[in-house]
Amino acid sequence: MELLKKYQILFNKYLEEHPFNGVPEELYEPANYIMKLGGKRLRPAMVLMAYELFKDDLEKALPIAMSVEVFHNFSLVHDDIMDEALVRRGKPTVHEKYSSNTAILSGDVMLVLANQVLFEIQETASILPLIRVFNRTAIEVCEGQQMDMNFETRQNVTIPEYIKMISLKTAALLAACLEMGAIASETDAQNIKNIYNFGLNIGIAFQLQDDILDTFGDPKIFGKKIGGDIIQNKKTFLILKALEVANSDQKNRLSNLMNTPTKDENKKIQEVTELLRQLNIPDLAEQEKEKFKEKAFASLAKINIPESRKLPLTQLAEIIIGRKV
Ligand code: IPE
Ligand code: IPE
Ligand code: MG
Ligand code: MG
Ligand code: MG
Repeated sequence: MELLKKYQILFNKYLEEHPFNGVPEELYEPANYIMKLGGKRLRPAMVLMAYELFKDDLEKALPIAMSVEVFHNFSLVHDDIMDEALVRRGKPTVHEKYSSNTAILSGDVMLVLANQVLFEIQETASILPLIRVFNRTAIEVCEGQQMDMNFETRQNVTIPEYIKMISLKTAALLAACLEMGAIASETDAQNIKNIYNFGLNIGIAFQLQDDILDTFGDPKIFGKKIGGDIIQNKKTFLILKALEVANSDQKNRLSNLMNTPTKDENKKIQEVTELLRQLNIPDLAEQEKEKFKEKAFASLAKINIPESRKLPLTQLAEIIIGRKV
């Protein structure tokens, strides 16, 4: 992740200088806690990279970088309540450390603060378009999150429906980060559209990788519980593809495992994982990621700037697709 370092350092310094202050402390402390837990800072890096693609003075885009990272962290706080997750970035989740009510309300204030920080942009002409993108994206993320929950109890989810769901809950924000960086740089509408489409397809590959890691990742470095998606009966690509390629025997076994309540969570994780391996799902998921990577690169090719300037975005795509954390 060498490429990201420069942006991470710049962003973390800005964050240090702009902590959440306010009373009651109980509202703001969890927000500072989650923001400082680390994470890859991928979204702020993407804002800054998109801006830098067209313009050099990238400090000007820092309020946007802050906005998207605060929004992302808000979405994690609420997502962890919904997914009943106890560990995030290797540490207790906000609702586990404080309480669910605190996590709900701190999350709420983070969502508002994420919007408010956009007013700090110096080029006032871009504020309105940025707020428009921010609001559209925030709604999309909520829609995707609801679909994700709906799918937990639905048996006939299709892969196109799953792609739609992850486009909304995850890829829309990654795409918006690039779009917002590009808007602030005042590049033309065609470039903004192409960089957005690059981000959307990379974002889909990002969530596919997240699903892969949730089952097949290394528990020592992943920072979240391995098998969490299996326990929550998430209709991830892994499960949907398995249901597609399984014979009727395997299909029944998988459906039974998913639909029968169990006290022994580890056994369920182990059995589902074993079945996914037998069905060659890790390879099939890799192939699916490649399809979206190719689509992303087709959009990148259309951006009207010298190819050499696009190198960081090419590297970003590789990092996102191959990430282990
Ligand atoms: C996690 O995002 C949430 C998803 C959309 C899968 P990241 O993997 O970017 O989380 P951090 O910020 O690096 O912890
Ligand atoms: C999360 O998807 C998308 C969000 C909007 C936060 P996941 O539920 O898979 O994210 P993780 O795995 O908990 O980070
Ligand atoms: Mg979730
Ligand atoms: Mg989750
Ligand atoms: Mg996940």
